[in-house]
Parts: sequence; C-alpha cells; structure tokens
Amino acid sequence: MKAFDILAAAVVVIATAGGVRADAANVDPPPLPQRLSDTGLFVPGTTTVRAEHIAFSPQYPLWSDGTGKRRWLSLPPGASIDASKPDAWDFPVGTKLWKEFSYGRSVETRFVERLADGSWRFAAYVWNEQGTDAELAPPRGTAIAVASAPGGRYAVPGRLDCLACHDGGATPVLGFSALQLSPDRDPLAPHADAKTPQLADLRSLAARGVIRNLPQRLLENPPRVAAASPTARAALGYLHGNCGHCHNDSGALASLDLALAQQAAAPQASAERTLQSLLGHASRFRPHDGSQSKRLVAGSDADSVLAVRMKTANPMARMPPLGVKVSDSEAIALIERWIKTDLPTVEEK
Ligand code: HEC
Ligand code: HEC
Repeated sequence: MKAFDILAAAVVVIATAGGVRADAANVDPPPLPQRLSDTGLFVPGTTTVRAEHIAFSPQYPLWSDGTGKRRWLSLPPGASIDASKPDAWDFPVGTKLWKEFSYGRSVETRFVERLADGSWRFAAYVWNEQGTDAELAPPRGTAIAVASAPGGRYAVPGRLDCLACHDGGATPVLGFSALQLSPDRDPLAPHADAKTPQLADLRSLAARGVIRNLPQRLLENPPRVAAASPTARAALGYLHGNCGHCHNDSGALASLDLALAQQAAAPQASAERTLQSLLGHASRFRPHDGSQSKRLVAGSDADSVLAVRMKTANPMARMPPLGVKVSDSEAIALIERWIKTDLPTVEEK
C-alpha cells in the first residue's frame, strides 16, 4: 500500500468507527428542519405522534433532574436494524429517534438521524409555551425559563454536548439496545417506566421484523446484567445507563481504565471488568486534603470516589458532568447500599 492509500484507509476507519463523523467525500445533507413538526414525528397538522413510530423506554434510563421522558424510533419503510452484533446494532440510513423531555408540559425534544453517508446528526427542539410546536435550538444550546424546573431554568444542551455522550461507544444510539430493551426488566432500576404493551422490547421488535439477526439465545434468554444480588444488578445497570456511554473501553475516555458499560453478549465478562476497574482501584481524583483515594472501597461509601462524586454539590466534581443539576438521591441510595452491603471484599491493588 502506498502512503496515500494507508492515509485514505485510516480516514475511512475514522468515518465509520463511531458512526458519527461525516465522510468528507459526500455532499452536504439537507439542512436540519427548523421545526419539530417537519422532522416527521407527528401526524401532519397535529402534535399527535404517528402511530407507526415505535415507542420505547430503556430499562436503565438516564437521570435528567426528574424530567418526564418519552422516546420513539422510526425506520424507513421496509428497512430493519441489523442486530447481529448484540452490543453494536447497525441502524439503516434514514433511522430517526426522538426523545421528549417534559416538566408538566413538553419543554424539549431531541432528535438524531442517520444520513445517507452513514453519519449521524443531532438536534434539539424547544417547545413553545402553547405546546403547538418546537423550534430548532441554536447549535451551542440555550437556557429557557420553565417554572417547575430547578431554579426556574431548563438547559438545552449544545450539539457538542450531544457528542460528549453519544459519540463514545460502538453506536451513537444509547437507549435502543439489546440490554436496554430486554424483556427481563430489572425491577429495582431507578426511575424506570413501567412496561406496557405499547413499549417495544426485544421480542416484539424481532417479531415485527424491526430487528433482524439477533442471536436466538438472546431471544430465549433475554440479556440481563450479571450480578450476585438484585442490588448489585440494579447498581451495575444504573452505572451502565448513566455513566457507561462515557466510561467504557472503546471511547475517548478509555485511557481512564474505568469501564462502567455492560455487554448483552458477554454479561459475566463485562460485569467482572467493571468491578476490576473499580474495586480497590486507585483514583486520580484527589480529595481536598490531597490524600490518595480509591474508586470503590467495599463497605465504605464515604471512601469511594464513585459515590462521593455522584453526591457532591460541587459542579466541577459531580458525575455525570453534564445534564444534571439535581443529584439522583434514589440512585445514590442504591449505590451506597451496594457498596456497604453487597460488594465482595478484594485485595487492594
Ligand atoms: C449526559 C449525556 C447525554 C447528553 C449530553 C445527551 N444525551 Fe441523548 N441520551 C443519553 C442517554 C444515556 C440516552 C439513553 C437513555 C435514556 O434515554 O434515558 C440518550 C437518549 C437519546 C435519544 C433517544 C435515542 C437513544 O440514543 O437512545 C435521543 C434522540 C437523544 N438522546 C438525543 C440527544 C441529543 C440531540 C443531544 C444533544 C442536544 C443529547 N441527546 C445529549 C445521554 C445523553
Ligand atoms: C459526559 C461524559 C461523562 C459521564 C456521563 C460520566 N463521566 Fe465520570 N468522568 C468523565 C471525565 C471526562 C472524567 C475525567 C476527569 C475528571 O476526573 O473529572 C471522569 C472521571 C470519573 C471518575 C474518576 C476516575 C478516577 O480515576 O479518579 C469517576 C469515579 C467517575 N468519573 C464516575 C462516574 C460515574 C459514577 C458516572 C455516572 C453516574 C459518570 N462518571 C458519568 C466523564 C463522564
């Protein structure tokens, strides 16, 4: 291979790796619609979501200050998702997903779309107070007045923020996955919606032909987090849904050696990897007194940086660093219970 070919090959790899970056060789896509009603979410002339869109709710939802959320997927007619890699589903060109946030009324709807060149684009739409439509937010995000939001303000993230969370894994789609849509839902998962027949799961998606090539064993034995107890299962699931999109072994933060994502195809190995990256593992984070700290110390949440950084009121240290103003007290209680009563004591590293 000539040097030029090697370079070209490298460019292709980058263009397809996260699935997010645009392939420079392709023409510009049409501009983002200015209004949510033009993205295809609604029956024209209404704010009624089209019946053919697929409603879903991940079993381990992301905490967003207690906002209400609804989510939908739409595929082009006749298209389907290749689920042969259980943890990296391949979505067809033309896939659209929406996520609506509400505080009593709809405040924001986020939108992702897979373009003809295979890249993905991200947008946020801000609802008017009358609830008749939502307008494209500026690329850098914005803040809007919402009486029932904490502090009366609601922050709409910018497109770079979208990428901070959505560009770190095998696919930018985070909540529409084998583990998140398992029919074997975790009863202890914080803030999860109750499962209704209207919400899709792996079996209904396979039966409708929305997903194809999912390994048969995952239909027979639906994916679940591997854990020794119900508390540990919910704790690892919570970390997967709220932290694993940044903290995993493939994304931009892989060098931190902090793996909080679980794999539907390899639950045992991924859970072990998570514990190995936490238990007794030295932390780079220094408390005020500058002492050496550990990510997770079995039996002591006060000495576990993981719990300390979820709880702290300091926005510079709080985890996750984006999208949270109000600490998730239910999840913190779960993580503390897990650390105090459930974790195996292992030798320090
Ligand atoms: C703090 C991390 C974070 C940020 C920032 C973020 N997202 Fe997400 N998003 C997630 C996670 C995690 C999920 C899946 C879990 C859920 O929906 O509760 C998700 C789900 C979605 C979904 C539903 C499809 C899917 O991937 O499951 C859409 C659409 C979406 N986000 C769009 C956006 C857009 C557009 C932005 C920027 C304006 C954005 N998100 C910013 C973490 C984030
Ligand atoms: C938007 C990406 C993002 C999300 C989501 C996120 N983190 Fe982080 N996290 C970071 C970055 C960047 C660092 C390294 C810089 C720092 O320590 O602040 C980090 C550092 C950490 C560390 C310190 C690691 C060490 O060696 O000291 C811990 C522990 C941690 N995160 C836990 C969590 C937990 C728990 C969650 C979910 C509740 C979470 N993070 C969600 C980006 C993220």
